[in-house]
Amino acid sequence: MSFEPNILGFLCNWCSYAGADLAGVSRVQYPPNIRVIRVMCSGRVDPVFVIEALATGLDGVIVMGCHLGDCHYIDGNYEEKMKLDLLSKALQLIGLSGRFRLEWVSASEGVRFGQVVSEFTKQIKNEGPSPFSGSKPNQKLKEDLEAIKRTLSDNRLRTLVGRERAITEFGNVYEEIIEFEEYEKIIDDALNSEFLRNKILIKLEKEPLSVKNLSKSLSIESSLILEHIVSLKARNLIDFNRIDGITPYYHALKEAL
Ligand code: FES
Repeated sequence: MSFEPNILGFLCNWCSYAGADLAGVSRVQYPPNIRVIRVMCSGRVDPVFVIEALATGLDGVIVMGCHLGDCHYIDGNYEEKMKLDLLSKALQLIGLSGRFRLEWVSASEGVRFGQVVSEFTKQIKNEGPSPFSGSKPNQKLKEDLEAIKRTLSDNRLRTLVGRERAITEFGNVYEEIIEFEEYEKIIDDALNSEFLRNKILIKLEKEPLSVKNLSKSLSIESSLILEHIVSLKARNLIDFNRIDGITPYYHALKEAL
């Protein structure tokens, strides 16, 4: 049997939803795999919405908004682009970036709407069924997706992304402008660190573990794990559980998953 993906589309009311309407009245042909949620602006779509949709077993998610410069709320789509660029990078870390796309489609682009949906459906067919659907969802990947969700909910990372345009274009409070590439590197480092810390935290919510256990289970060097353990302990998110011989074990201070 051929695989027919389930795709969710978040469409902004003023451009892409009107573009989809135009595709309908113009009888533009496109695959019937997409289900649509209409939002007032693409900027309303939080990256966590996309992650939650993927976690439910949907095969792909697409966000469509007005072209840059055409947003009815002035810069909602600029903001969205920054948030969803971060989401794409985060999904790349766990090999799921192919299941997500951001596109700009105006109200007059009915044909383009059909093309975008056709291309994305083809892309998702190539990706295959969601690893979270069926009777045996991929548990390891589900844990990683949960770590990504927590990472993208982190206030510090959100603030960094939210300030990106202001700081790279207009400067910080000292009127210092940081180069875009330099700022992106700061965001990338924060993303990678938070992701690893959340992976560690999720493991420690399930059972107390030593640095060596974590290193083996996450296939990451002990020295790097130890660095993040120190940071998690300083933030009061984990604590000592016991000492076994000379090996300290840690547990999370939050509720288990
Ligand atoms: Fe369409 Fe903002 S109103 S992207």
